Amino acid sequence: MRLQHCVRSHSVLGCLLAACFTTALLCAQPSAESISIQANRPGPAIPRTLFGVFFEDINFAADGGLYPELVKNRSFEFTEPLNGWSKGFNVDAQMIVRSEGGLNDNNPHYLRLRSEIPTGFNITNTGLRGMGVRAGAEYIFSAWVRVPEPSAPKSLRAALRTAGPGGDNLGEATLTGFSAEWKKYETVIRTSATNPKARLQLTVDGPGAIDLDMVSLFPKDTWQNRPNGLRRDLVQLLADMKPGFIRFPGGCVVEGRRLALRYQWKKTVGDVSERRAIINRWNDENERLTPDYFQSFGLGFYEYFQLAEDIGASPLPIISCGMACQFNSGELAPLDQLSEYIQDALDLIEFANGDPSTQWGALRAKLGHPAPFHLKMIGVGNEQWGKAYVDRYKVFSAAIKSKYPDIRLVASAGPFPAGPMFNFLWPRMRDLKADLVDEHYYQPPQWFLNNSSRYDNYDRKGPKVFAGEYAAHVADKRNTWGAALAEAAFMTGLERNADVVEMASYAPLFAHVDAWQWAPDLIWFDNLRSFGTPSYYVQKLFASNLGTRILPLSIGESARNAQNGIYASASLDEKTGEVILKAVNSNTAARPVRISVAGAEARGSARAMTLASGDLAAENSLDKPLNVVPAERTISITGDRIEIDLPAYSLTVFRMPVR
Ligand code: AHR
Repeated sequence: MRLQHCVRSHSVLGCLLAACFTTALLCAQPSAESISIQANRPGPAIPRTLFGVFFEDINFAADGGLYPELVKNRSFEFTEPLNGWSKGFNVDAQMIVRSEGGLNDNNPHYLRLRSEIPTGFNITNTGLRGMGVRAGAEYIFSAWVRVPEPSAPKSLRAALRTAGPGGDNLGEATLTGFSAEWKKYETVIRTSATNPKARLQLTVDGPGAIDLDMVSLFPKDTWQNRPNGLRRDLVQLLADMKPGFIRFPGGCVVEGRRLALRYQWKKTVGDVSERRAIINRWNDENERLTPDYFQSFGLGFYEYFQLAEDIGASPLPIISCGMACQFNSGELAPLDQLSEYIQDALDLIEFANGDPSTQWGALRAKLGHPAPFHLKMIGVGNEQWGKAYVDRYKVFSAAIKSKYPDIRLVASAGPFPAGPMFNFLWPRMRDLKADLVDEHYYQPPQWFLNNSSRYDNYDRKGPKVFAGEYAAHVADKRNTWGAALAEAAFMTGLERNADVVEMASYAPLFAHVDAWQWAPDLIWFDNLRSFGTPSYYVQKLFASNLGTRILPLSIGESARNAQNGIYASASLDEKTGEVILKAVNSNTAARPVRISVAGAEARGSARAMTLASGDLAAENSLDKPLNVVPAERTISITGDRIEIDLPAYSLTVFRMPVR
């Protein structure tokens, strides 16, 4: 019981006497911490971009994740050309990958099947860690087919089967009518049962030879029901966050281990059969080797821009600046040979924003989007460092700004939040007038708690900060509530400094439970299910409760955002007329707080959304996806203030209507 409550209902003397005789436990209870918000002194505007997402094709985030193609190695372009495909030990049947007369220059390899067996034979594709299919759903089976000789099978039957010898048939369909020319054929398979790890079996019906390429099994049910669309549940999780921006496609995948393997956006747009598949740089690096990790680019730059638009996020593409990943080869494009790289950047801006009468604007219109994508910013390189980066940034900046002065440029601060690389780059990027500088920090939770006021004294006149990659890493890299809580405490400092921190995103975004290389991650999934981690709910609470102006706030006597294990930030939402308070209690016990709003009449009741667990090791999982999720309640505002206990280890977002 708090003295204040006591005084309300009893005499002061009675209360004092009661207080004297209270147990040691009660006497030890902390007095209420006051959180005072000054609604009469609204500060700088909060950019809509403050809290966003960073998508990188790591952990099967694209192929096997957001891009729901079910066939692995559909184009036979993996380094191991039959990866994903198998045939029984049938000596009278051949399965050979060839490249004579392939589909096109970007997709030279294809599969030739030949047999003398009158009844035909089967081959199987395993999918990317199996194929997740749902009962009653429809899957488009398609393939480019050619019959090179007069003696040819008449049909190709595609059947979804459960794994294992003699697996059950879950649904099938047949293609027929082949000719000597490459042509795309398509049919639909409707599945009879749900299975998370199905296989695709292809049966060549009769003897002869048949050529196959771009063998695809694609769900009809995609986000917005688009052909070649994205996995609905994963996009929904993103949309629910209301992210202010989406940074894509990486990360280190932008840079490539060698320059030849860098991300080249022009090779990711247009018909999917013309998008050249390459090895993914996360194929054999980091915690778990993934030798079958390739980029089909079925999710390419057109789809990324469309995704950004769908979820209301500003697109932030990152482009190669002629530097391969410095953790790998560090290969450099010579300074006098950067024109191809720079042209790619300029053409990308035209692709996103240009009038349909321009070359690249015309391509966008042809792909189905005549209106511009409203690109406003571009990242020059990913996590580069050193003089080589400064030299290249200068050239990019000069070229892009002279043609597109309004496009804002994001520059790198290197891979670490402090130290020689960071200290070398920041002043140079300030001199070069970079619009934003991208800082990365993967650090223990305590670092995030200690750094909640990191930006309080940053230079307000220099480049803005983009906290482009961050996550609290506990020792075993699990997605615990303890990690999320530390991130929440830190994020109050980001919001409080939203005049200098313009954008921030957790990293990485997605991970397949059977195919990840890097943990922790924001969202995990298997072939059919997905869930948000506690960190996801922290991000969602911050991004979907973004005010329009920072409000000054003090905790007790401290004008900072942290005091006695309480971290807080406040904002005004001018659209809804609410004061929003985000308050973190990092203490092991509940803490009473007295929240007051000066300079505005707080009235009626407030919404309070609390994310809490007494167990810092608590996690969400596929089987318990809602273990740590926000709970909402209504609380009354009495006399312009709220008195409430912040639960132990909690984040609470209050929305208080004010006049
Ligand atoms: O998010 C994973 C990786 O971490 C990114 O690719 C890279 O930018 C950083 O080193």
